[in-house]
Amino acid sequence: MTRLDRRQFLIGAAATGAIVAAPARAATQRSVAGLKAAPMDSVRFGIIGVGDRGYEHVRSLAMLDGVQIVALCDLYEDLLEKSASHVEAERGYRPALVHGDEHAYRTLLDRGDIDAVLIATPWEWHVPMGVETLASGKHAFIEVPAAQTIEGCWALVDAAEAAQKHCMMLENCCYGRTELMVLNMVRQGLFGDLTHGEGAYIHDLRWQMKDIKRGTGSWRTPWHTRRDGNLYPTHGLGPIAQYMNINRGDRFDYLTSISSPALGRAAYARASFAPDHARNKAAYVTGDMNTSLIKTKLGRSIMVQHDTTTARPYSRLNLVQGTKGIFAGFPDRIALGAGAGPDSHTEWQHDMEPWFDRYDHPLWRASAELAARHGGHGGMDMVMMWRLVSCLRAGEALDQSVYDAAAWSAIGPLSAASVANRSTSIDVPDFTRGGWQSAEPLGVVGV
Ligand SMILES: NC(=O)c1ccc[n+]([C@@H]2O[C@H](COP(=O)([O-])OP(=O)(O)OC[C@H]3O[C@@H](n4cnc5c(N)ncnc54)[C@H](O)[C@@H]3O)[C@@H](O)[C@H]2O)c1
Repeated sequence: MTRLDRRQFLIGAAATGAIVAAPARAATQRSVAGLKAAPMDSVRFGIIGVGDRGYEHVRSLAMLDGVQIVALCDLYEDLLEKSASHVEAERGYRPALVHGDEHAYRTLLDRGDIDAVLIATPWEWHVPMGVETLASGKHAFIEVPAAQTIEGCWALVDAAEAAQKHCMMLENCCYGRTELMVLNMVRQGLFGDLTHGEGAYIHDLRWQMKDIKRGTGSWRTPWHTRRDGNLYPTHGLGPIAQYMNINRGDRFDYLTSISSPALGRAAYARASFAPDHARNKAAYVTGDMNTSLIKTKLGRSIMVQHDTTTARPYSRLNLVQGTKGIFAGFPDRIALGAGAGPDSHTEWQHDMEPWFDRYDHPLWRASAELAARHGGHGGMDMVMMWRLVSCLRAGEALDQSVYDAAAWSAIGPLSAASVANRSTSIDVPDFTRGGWQSAEPLGVVGV
């Protein structure tokens, strides 16, 4: 079989629950686990996609030392102008602006004065733009989820291994103050040996259906007519995967997934649009609530939920438990056994301040002021950008690898395959090709 044939076979195998073996690594590829690139005084960025999210990245980068925003690309000139004006106001220069057809981003990739490319475009563009960025010899930073197919996940892994460049998914939720503190506590052993975690993306985004011609809802809404499963697994799962050292001592083994009926989007369309509007003609298939259960190689269990349709409060769950206690988020609460701090393990403690005082992650302590000035998503956006720029400048390994991008994103298509087959158990590919057994755990680093 050719490599592509083999991948297609693997996707089919995944859909039926057969064992999924990793395709062999080509002679031109090497693992990028723990990859350290040459240090750089200043990191020269290009950004593809300066809509809602891309503009936030422009704002973050413009606040950082050791950064040049060299070129921006988008389909819309007004969006490019908004970002360019911001850079000019903050930094005193204008980036080059690239627009034209939907492949004009290749002009940006052809430039020799860019080290790293941020990709904040609709989901269907992440893999082609990521692969081409890596092939052009640049580091790729891709918005969430990095890929929507198993084939796409492998394509990113292969491209990063061939280029020996960073390919990181921009999972900002790993840099929330709470998530960083819990990671610190997990590494200090406060919860004992981890047994179970729960993550979610529960966020009522039905209002985005009112974006018709452009804007997030214009491309995101159609995904609700295409796939019944978890469309956006990584915000809730990323932090849990880091607590559990997934791809660094443990890995996802298999999953099973189940969806509720898909009712909320059709009801919203009926209430919000004329009967003959396209939003009322669409058939929405993504179950309002999708629940996936993942088993890891070390036997741990993880629940991941997705619901962007129901009128209910926001949550990423962020629950982790071990032999000594439990933390849960939204709202934050903790219960630990005796001797581990303010002690009660049978009742939740809701006052987190003493815990932040004691266990705030060193990265948060070092960047809290910058995070507060930026403000995006409670500060996590800025901490993430500051951290990745610091790593690139110092030639350090990043906190999230291409294997994480692939494994966390793969839960999307695998959940859909399981839902389509009466919740059949589906193997999760080993994107590290065995490397997870020897990769270094994610440490709690200072600055
Ligand atoms: N991490 C987070 O917290 C977070 C938050 C919001 C969005 N996102 C992610 O960011 C990405 C973008 O979402 P958004 O809300 O900004 O959407 P958006 O529609 O506001 O922005 C996407 C931009 O990409 C541009 N674009 C589309 N195709 C292009 C092409 N071929 N070449 C160049 N530009 C192109 C569009 O013109 C648009 O301006 C998505 O992957 C989304 O999941 C992440």
